[in-house]
Amino acid sequence: MDHFVYRDGGLHAEDVPLTAIAEACGTPVYVYSTATLVRHHRVLDAALAPLDRLICFAVKANGNLSVLATLARLGAGADVVSGGELARARAAGIPAGRIVFSGVGKTPAELAAALDEGIYQFNVESAAELEMLARIAQEKGVRAPVALRVNPDVRPATHRKIATGARETKFGIPREDALALYRAAAAMRGIRVQGIDVHIGSQITELAPFAEAFARIADLVAALRRQGIEIRTVDLGGGLGVPYARGRDAPPEPAAYGALVRELVGALDCRVIVEPGRLIAANAGVLLARVVLVKETAHRRFVVLDAGMNDLMRPALYDAVHEILPVAEPAPDAPAITADVVGPVCESGDVFLRDAVLPPLAAGDLVAIRSAGAYGASMASAYNARDLASEVLVNGADWALVRRRITWRELLAFEERAPWLDNRA
Ligand code: LLP
Repeated sequence: MDHFVYRDGGLHAEDVPLTAIAEACGTPVYVYSTATLVRHHRVLDAALAPLDRLICFAVKANGNLSVLATLARLGAGADVVSGGELARARAAGIPAGRIVFSGVGKTPAELAAALDEGIYQFNVESAAELEMLARIAQEKGVRAPVALRVNPDVRPATHRKIATGARETKFGIPREDALALYRAAAAMRGIRVQGIDVHIGSQITELAPFAEAFARIADLVAALRRQGIEIRTVDLGGGLGVPYARGRDAPPEPAAYGALVRELVGALDCRVIVEPGRLIAANAGVLLARVVLVKETAHRRFVVLDAGMNDLMRPALYDAVHEILPVAEPAPDAPAITADVVGPVCESGDVFLRDAVLPPLAAGDLVAIRSAGAYGASMASAYNARDLASEVLVNGADWALVRRRITWRELLAFEERAPWLDNRA
């Protein structure tokens, strides 16, 4: 459920007409709904109750400061994968004690910064990282709280570019190496072993791979305890899928996911950490765009938007299907057209939706590309010397521009001619 609904003939975000935002801020613009963020957080939290739990929002899904601050107020923590994300989470008011740090390539500087902040947990992905972290912590005279990210070797049915749970991927420590590395970690002065971590991929739309992975993790915890290695936190990662297009994918309800977590790891008496990104943010955002023109050829009809693959990469990168709604509510008996909804970028992959069935659209009309609150703005680029779209947060009848447009003019100002090309020289 979300809070993007038609009212008085037009699509609203909560109580704000999208036309008002487009007029004030221009397009393309990302629009996020506070009520939807809050609801998604609450539903997941209720699904995991009464476990001792920590919801660490995956900042990579949406790093906007106001989005993070909204979640911080609900008591959420953060899963970060860079020094930049750590700084963002802290700037948004997320306490260091609720931050976990994931990723295969944390640099020495990033590890040091996270130690200085006093974050809750380092999710360590290799022997090399463990040694690096132990050395830096020891130099600082502290012990780094560590979980090892274990690769459980499960293969969820999701797009190959976002599956991480199989042994051929770069992620995690192979299951069969975990016990030995835990023993080594337990003997390191700069390390305090506290937990175990797993993340098998993203946009997973069935429970079976989670069940397989969580059962393997529970077995490992038992084996570690038999060896005298105490495990107090179990981080289950993110990955629960969301419905993108109506009738296409039917991911499990958070309640069913929560029941599975309780069943498979509840008895371990650990604090359970989850790292949802998409589940919280995807359906809390739309990308609002304007039709530049409609191009008709003998073969196809194209609705060309002022948003492109640089603004929202998911369709081009993962063949993702995002629903597109006209902002003006179509009359029930309005005729339908079939068109490819495309962006202006000079690549044939710059297609948002093929064979979209829409009411007739004309230049100047507004459309909303749904489910764009996760991995939308956070993955955007300025390809084709385009602007980085602005971002708006709605809260009831209130709304605010929470990141202004970053223009090509501003980006151009970062560049300089090499001295030998300067014709003034
Ligand atoms: N934890 C870790 C260690 C992760 O790598 C990720 C996502 C998450 C949590 C959050 O996963 P989520 O709950 O959002 O599925 N750009 C792609 C998704 C990449 C996900 C990368 N890791 C997309 O747009 O589909």
